[in-house]
Amino acid sequence: MENCRLIELTSHGDNRGSLIALEKEHDVPFDIKRVYYIYDTKRGVPRGFHAHENLEQLLICVSGSCKIKVDNGKEKEIYELNSPEKALYIGKMIWREMYDFSGSCVLMVIASEYYNPEEYIRDYDKYIELVNGGGI
Ligand code: TYD
Repeated sequence: MENCRLIELTSHGDNRGSLIALEKEHDVPFDIKRVYYIYDTKRGVPRGFHAHENLEQLLICVSGSCKIKVDNGKEKEIYELNSPEKALYIGKMIWREMYDFSGSCVLMVIASEYYNPEEYIRDYDKYIELVNGGGI
């Protein structure tokens, strides 16, 4: 889908284990302003249900697995994040829902902007209106 893609991360492994490094510009396609992680999720309890006009994010399931449904107002796609070597880039104006969290799932999110509750679009009908030409 346009504005959303899976990125294969480079893992540096040896007989001690594996390591992944994420550097601004090299691995993350935006300036990093914030990192947060979602953990202690409850089985069957979905999260997300919002979009952002100006936020770009990279989602990495560093432990366990979960599914991410993305929607650009025209098409929807489901990605399964089940490896710390996979990152899902989500661009601006994409509606996202996260669900099917496995036990001990840790979903790390790298974001291009500081947290700002004001810029959340939480109403799906309003999102569809905006994405289909209503002022963007
Ligand atoms: P929420 O947006 O509901 O999470 P999700 O995107 O998974 O649905 O955020 C949960 C709580 O965490 C809410 O009280 C706001 C707070 N929060 C921050 O303080 N900073 C952040 O960067 C984020 C993403 C959330």
